[in-house]
Amino acid sequence: MKILVTGGAGYIGSHTCVELLKKNYDVVVLDNFSNSCEESLNRVQNITRKKLSFYEADLLKPSDIHQVFKDHKIDAVIHFAGLKAVGESVTIPLKYYHNNLTGTFNLLSAMDQFNVKNLVFSSSATVYGDPTTLPITEEFPLCATNPYGRTKLIIEEVLQDLYQSDKSWSIALLRYFNPVGAHESGQIGEDPQGLPNNLMPYISQVAVGLLPRLSVFGSDYNTPDGTGVRDYIHVTDLALGHILTLPKLTSKPGVATYNLGTGNGFSVLEIIKEFEKASNQKISYQITDRRPGDIATCFADSSKAKKELGWETTKSLEDMCKDTWNWQKNNPEGYRKHSKED
Ligand code: NAD
Ligand code: WQD
Repeated sequence: MKILVTGGAGYIGSHTCVELLKKNYDVVVLDNFSNSCEESLNRVQNITRKKLSFYEADLLKPSDIHQVFKDHKIDAVIHFAGLKAVGESVTIPLKYYHNNLTGTFNLLSAMDQFNVKNLVFSSSATVYGDPTTLPITEEFPLCATNPYGRTKLIIEEVLQDLYQSDKSWSIALLRYFNPVGAHESGQIGEDPQGLPNNLMPYISQVAVGLLPRLSVFGSDYNTPDGTGVRDYIHVTDLALGHILTLPKLTSKPGVATYNLGTGNGFSVLEIIKEFEKASNQKISYQITDRRPGDIATCFADSSKAKKELGWETTKSLEDMCKDTWNWQKNNPEGYRKHSKED
């Protein structure tokens, strides 16, 4: 089976390419490198000792997408490509709407034209807004609290409309909770450009000495220690969720939605403590004001994915911290410099 992976050079995409190649899928990656670089794909091929096809191409250019479908008989698409920084989406919403929505519409039109109707879409727990009860099931009410989240919500709705109009589409909406960690080899991992927006890459850059200290955004939430609680999921467990979704797609048309999380919530202070243990480094931090738009607690009920896909997470918080640290210490500046081991 041949899988087109849009955004395959990015953080989650590269880890998914590893698992696809390991399972002997043929992989074609389309990425414009707006938030990644080719080195991640070189390393995916090093880890697996297998080749993938790669196109430096932009979803905003229909001719780029058509070229891929002309060159390859694609069976299914895993669509990661998109911009993902919540804060930036508030500052430059039009760029987010254009890239994420127009890019997706161009992809869907090409898929329709080339009769490729199996799609896995990267959605997010952000579509649940601030939930009133926990854990979060797929049936919870949806809402967007920022332009980034709205792009996810709109695309989910567009995909429902598409299936209603043509029942031969088979679509999975995967709602990720908080992806962290790195491949156990330490060769690929999260490589934020500029100051990290998310907790785990920020902590690991403090640990490696690139940043002086972490700001803990608020200690007065209604949580056991007052700091925000999230459902962190190892990126390899997340990648494996995509692999298990593929046979389901090709077995029956429809739109299916799955939460991909562990079901466990950890606070910011718990993450700092576990990371200190894993890295044997002191993480300097200060408590600051809450970050606007943050919620107190968020964790998943992923029993539907377990029941219908046979998917379960196997990696612990210790694994997530150990693997993040292994990646960060071997690649202090991400992919920009060769790793210490090279
Ligand atoms: P990432 O930025 O590392 O990867 C996205 C990739 O898409 C990048 O390689 C980027 O260059 C590419 N891209 C962006 N716009 C493109 C375009 N117009 N044409 C071609 N390529 C384009 O992000 P990630 O963390 O791997 O996230 C992957 C997907 O998962 C995104 O859709 C994101 O919104 C979603 N998601 C991420 C998280 C998270 O915390 N990382 C959580 C929930 C959902
Ligand atoms: C986690 C916790 C912060 C940074 C975001 C997106 C969401 C999804 C995943 C894409 C919170 C605290 C963070 C820091 C801190 N992405 N924190 N200091 O906000 O749960 O989710 O990424 O879909 O849409 O919103 O993740 O890692 O930013 O924050 O104290 O420097 O860490 O307040 O409690 P978040 P995060």
